[in-house]
Amino acid sequence: MLNDDFHVAIIMDGNGRWAKAKGLARTAGHLKGSDNVRNIAIAASELGVTHLTLYAFSTENWKRAKDEVNYIMKLPGVFFEKYMDEFIERGYRMNIIGKLDELPKKTYDVLIDAMEKSKDNTGLVLTICMNYGSQMELINAAEAYARDVKEGKAELPLTNEVFESYLMTKGLPMVDLLIRTSGEQRISNYLLYQIAYAELVFCEEAWPEFDKEVLKRCLDEYNKRDRRFGGVKNV
Ligand code: IPE
Ligand code: IPE
Ligand code: MG
Repeated sequence: MLNDDFHVAIIMDGNGRWAKAKGLARTAGHLKGSDNVRNIAIAASELGVTHLTLYAFSTENWKRAKDEVNYIMKLPGVFFEKYMDEFIERGYRMNIIGKLDELPKKTYDVLIDAMEKSKDNTGLVLTICMNYGSQMELINAAEAYARDVKEGKAELPLTNEVFESYLMTKGLPMVDLLIRTSGEQRISNYLLYQIAYAELVFCEEAWPEFDKEVLKRCLDEYNKRDRRFGGVKNV
């Protein structure tokens, strides 16, 4: 059984390798991967996930070839053009986090528009991390808090609750389950604070081939785990 508020975060990895294995360009993997965001949002919602947070582009991904980066930057436009109406119909609330002001203006506008159009929805909270990096997020939060203390708007000592309100994930519950696709077992600067007590599940499937069955398998694995949060289970 999942909690009432169940937060799944996914590192959507393996688009490039998936495409290469099929003799396609890496960009073909990104296109297929972005379409899969729609399928997995629906699957997750049907399986009882209330919050789904997806890693789409990291603050380190700018290191990639210009053509690949440019292609990824155009995907939100293509994606929301195809699926926004359906998301609204399904009651999903779009939440985009990351350093959005560094994105191309067109991409920025599309993302803001998606949030604006869905802000009153009460269904699945679908958070897309775009130009997101956890270290950047934590440093920005520390800076903003220090500034507020200096200006008399915040006080010491700092509590978890107050610190969390300075994070980009403000308002989201802590992550229950973190999934990484395509066989890599690392965190790659994702939600370092928010995964403090998350269960980690790694699967071999690349993101474009991650489907409802694989998601179900990950949730089954989660259900077998014994979460103790530092305590001792009564036996
Ligand atoms: C994930 O797939 C998408 C992004 C990081 C933007 P990758 O592009 O990292 O695919 P691999 O890991 O190279 O196969
Ligand atoms: C993590 O994947 C970032 C996203 C999925 C957006 P990467 O492919 O960038 O991670 P590394 O470089 O293999 O650690
Ligand atoms: Mg990768």
